[in-house]
Amino acid sequence: MKKTALILAGICLIIAGMSCSVKENTGPDKAIYEKVDSIMSLMTLEEKAGQMLNLGLAALLEGPFFTFRDTLIFDTAKVNSLLVKHGAGSVQNLGTYPLTPEEWRYYIGYIQNVVKGQTRLKIPVLYGIDAVHGANYTAGSVLTPHQINIAASFDTSLARIAGEITAYEMKASAIPWNYSPNLDVARNPLWGRIYETFGEDTYVTTMMGKSMIEGMMGNDPAAYDKVIASAKHFIGYGAMVTGKDRSFVMMPEHYIRQILLPPFEEAIKSGLLSIMVSSSSLNGTPSHIDHYFLTKVLKEELGFKGVVITDWGDIDNLVNNHRVAKNEREAVKMSVLAGIDICMEPYDASFSEHLIDLVKSGEVPQSRVDDAVRRILYVKYKSGIFDDMLFEKHSYDKFASKEFDSLSLQAARESITLLKNANNILPLAKNKKVLVTGVAGNSINYLNNGWSRTWAGEDTAYNDKQKHTILQAIKAEIGSQNVKFVQGTGYTNEINIDEAVNNARQADIIIACVGEKPATEVPSNIEDLELPDAQIKLVEKLAATGKPVILVMTQGRPRIIRKIEPLVQAVVMAYVPGNEGGIAISDIIFGNANPSGKLPYTYPRYSGSIIMYDHQRENDFGFMAYRPQYEFGYGLSYTTFEYGDIKLDSDSVKSGNTINCSIDVKNTGKLAGKEAVLLFVTDEYASVCPVVKQLKRFTKIYLEPGETKTVTFKLELKDLMFVSSNNKRVYEPGSFKISIGNKEAGFYLYE
Ligand code: BGC
Repeated sequence: MKKTALILAGICLIIAGMSCSVKENTGPDKAIYEKVDSIMSLMTLEEKAGQMLNLGLAALLEGPFFTFRDTLIFDTAKVNSLLVKHGAGSVQNLGTYPLTPEEWRYYIGYIQNVVKGQTRLKIPVLYGIDAVHGANYTAGSVLTPHQINIAASFDTSLARIAGEITAYEMKASAIPWNYSPNLDVARNPLWGRIYETFGEDTYVTTMMGKSMIEGMMGNDPAAYDKVIASAKHFIGYGAMVTGKDRSFVMMPEHYIRQILLPPFEEAIKSGLLSIMVSSSSLNGTPSHIDHYFLTKVLKEELGFKGVVITDWGDIDNLVNNHRVAKNEREAVKMSVLAGIDICMEPYDASFSEHLIDLVKSGEVPQSRVDDAVRRILYVKYKSGIFDDMLFEKHSYDKFASKEFDSLSLQAARESITLLKNANNILPLAKNKKVLVTGVAGNSINYLNNGWSRTWAGEDTAYNDKQKHTILQAIKAEIGSQNVKFVQGTGYTNEINIDEAVNNARQADIIIACVGEKPATEVPSNIEDLELPDAQIKLVEKLAATGKPVILVMTQGRPRIIRKIEPLVQAVVMAYVPGNEGGIAISDIIFGNANPSGKLPYTYPRYSGSIIMYDHQRENDFGFMAYRPQYEFGYGLSYTTFEYGDIKLDSDSVKSGNTINCSIDVKNTGKLAGKEAVLLFVTDEYASVCPVVKQLKRFTKIYLEPGETKTVTFKLELKDLMFVSSNNKRVYEPGSFKISIGNKEAGFYLYE
């Protein structure tokens, strides 16, 4: 049997040239593959190369690619060249400003009609977009909290809901393909895109990613309210050495497999059909030409059947930045041979021209192109666009509905993390005189950050006027007459700190809203993890008045607050809570909601001691380097929870068995509340230095005052395994420790 499988695998490799192609004409997708093969039998090389091209919408519009447009007008010459002559298979993203659902239908409809009317095979275009926190490029859509908030909620059902809302509102805009979720495990707090991820932990990223993908895709991504999810960025993008976006990653393969790969593995099991490649290089090889990871690992080992798409302009980057190819033609060759199926070459069709030439000269085997196109057409069928190019058979009454808004609000509330609450100063009574100050205090943009109506998310012109900033929400809560606002600072500059301080003297309480200016990708790079000086100074001067200060942070990264943390009475981490964030923050401050978020990353105290929670022990040694401001998984509530002892159904398990752990959690305070219960496992001794602890399970429970619930987790052998230095997942008999809350228990694993 084994021998036959090996021979077949060998034949498959030879046929595909450099990759093992998808050859499944059996199974549930048999009918789809038959249709795909029948179309492919009619296709020319030129048509196939066109399918592999992904254009930016702006390439089809009048004017230079990067220009401000207040109206989007198709340029017929560009449309004829790119869509008709070159037959581009997919188009993506914005002209400049966000469109309404009707406008999206009009523009995508135009594209589909061109393809239908003017191309030989009438293969619909797959439209893709970055809908990373709701359908953020559709005007008026629900802007849910970003992924980092969803992670902080420690409730996977909220990831599912966020995925569902996003898919629904995308489809209302006739867009079937989403460049989301982000499954990068964020291993460097300097990175500006942390808010787009589920944080530093592999297990959280895996479970949240799975739920979000299931929410987006459901059982059938062709359904009127579902989309094709495209997880990104494969692989290593969030584990760069420098903390700068798109910079190199150095990580041995066994750590890649241990830390970075599991979210993708699980997503593929959940039916993921599209993956975007990392713009970084990994151990000296740009991911876009990494045949080992793209083809051997992703397509062959993990059995990924979907499409692999480049990131923006990244084939050009092989020449311009990575410098592994001397010209674009060589870069196209290297990346297609490595396993790239779709090239996001937003500006023109040079990719397909080079590819045609490379196939004609025999440098790229036809079989590799056929494999890519087969994947593309398969995904197009799965997306439903062959049946209904614009998803016009349904009405989308729930677009921007109250129901969706309130789910978004719930996610924001459940993510906000209370990090300090000296003398239970929070929640505040509603009869106090409050000064709201700080750069984030009266800004919708700071609540939404990047990917919000525009790429950078800075433009205020597209904000939803009816949404509340923190200031507006607080005014609505306690009455305008009780609230004064003085901004104090910009992001890095002082504006009117003295005025803020003078007003602070008249107030009972100061709510200082600090944060990060909206940005993503390279523009989000920073030089220093400390909160900018001007914002630190504002808080210091406010605190010097002697009035209590509530520090509210709207930021993706854990900006260092060591100097001001002791000066303030409460710290509320809101991350990037989205359009309902103002209300959610006010609800937490005034006790309409009981905080239940926990940190999805380690909050460093010093920029020179950046150590994740799941570090190896040597980091603790001697100089106490691991002393974060707040630990991963930390977060307070307005009530108190008491954990009973951990009960294991055995203190020794055999390798084939499971182990059940249960623990009682009691609400010992006076308020109802939710508690995220986190289970960590420690492998006491192993052949690869074991880390201090690793999260293996979590759940979130609701408890009335006085109520006790028993939480039971079942651990399997795979939870006790690790990737050894020979890159194989192994288990080693020995002692293990389980910790939940402040309780610990041990057991022994036998052969
Ligand atoms: C980003 C991706 C994004 C793509 C398309 C890139 O620059 O890195 O995350 O999906 O652009 O907008």
